Amino acid sequence: MTKINFEGQVVIVTGAGGGLGKVIAQDIARRGGTVVANDLGGSVTGEGSETSASYADQVVDAICAKGGCAVASYDDVATAAGAARVVEAAMDHFGRVDAVIANAGTMRYGDFESLTLDDLNALFAVHVGGSWNIAQAAWPIMKRQGYGRVVFATSSGGMLGNARLSAYGAAKGGVMGLMHGLAEAGAPLGILCNAYMPNAYSRMTADISPGDLGDNPWARALGPYFDPAHAVGLVTYLASDACRTHHGIYSALGGRIGRAFVGITDGFMSDTPPTAETVAEYWPALCDPALGYTIPKDNSDEWRIVADQRGITLD
Ligand code: NAI
Repeated sequence: MTKINFEGQVVIVTGAGGGLGKVIAQDIARRGGTVVANDLGGSVTGEGSETSASYADQVVDAICAKGGCAVASYDDVATAAGAARVVEAAMDHFGRVDAVIANAGTMRYGDFESLTLDDLNALFAVHVGGSWNIAQAAWPIMKRQGYGRVVFATSSGGMLGNARLSAYGAAKGGVMGLMHGLAEAGAPLGILCNAYMPNAYSRMTADISPGDLGDNPWARALGPYFDPAHAVGLVTYLASDACRTHHGIYSALGGRIGRAFVGITDGFMSDTPPTAETVAEYWPALCDPALGYTIPKDNSDEWRIVADQRGITLD
């Protein structure tokens, strides 16, 4: 079995003071990695001006107490300047950045009619903006060294949907879109980008438990597996040099680690513009993955697949 280690590597973990970030940072440090533990220490919703250095300090203290190496950063990754300071901290202290785990996040949930554009924008700022900012700040360094790993926290709320997570799901869907683009941009440079969809008890999920997670019988049944420890191995693997694949979305749920993907059914092919009636006629068949589907690697690959289905070849 390949032993995953981070000896000589510097890994930035954003949101490292929280439930998942904390165990991820500790696992990487335990494996010899030097960690920049970033956490603003704000509220679950990201509202209010109260922030706390203790979030990042606690994880750094825990790592150092076990002989590991970590520094704290209290910057707000939702701003480009804040994310740049996180990367500067890594460069100033340790002179390199090998992996970035864009894990920082906040939560606002509720019925669609009760959520506001402010909620949506706030979530976009942290999830999409925070992921964008930290990746962009680290990118030139990784590009120069021809090596990097970027791991994004997305969510089944964005990939699969949840009626009370429309704003959060939109933001996490945005993170997925970002990963799709950066994965393709990064691979030729040696920067491999992937995303994970965790399911774990944390401050964030405790906040939504009364209405959602806590009342869902399936979630209750899977309760023992909601320890963040069940997600950490996936994230550590994706951040390591043992991971050689890119452009993947992986789910950690209930003790199962699996790959999530976007597949497109073979559908029906028409040589003339199909009318709505034709679409209706073929609807059951075109919706049925049992009749065949493909998983395009990127958008150009979808064009190639359909051209192939049409029997078109390039000279
Ligand atoms: P958490 O609330 O315990 O941790 C998130 C941490 O991010 C907090 O410590 C918070 O202070 C920090 N943070 C928030 N905004 C920040 C900012 N602008 N700059 C720096 N730090 C900031 O939540 P949890 O559950 O550990 O979540 C970690 C990630 O996993 C999040 O991105 C979350 O959306 C995602 N996720 C979690 C799921 C779960 O079941 N726990 C499910 C799906 C996704």
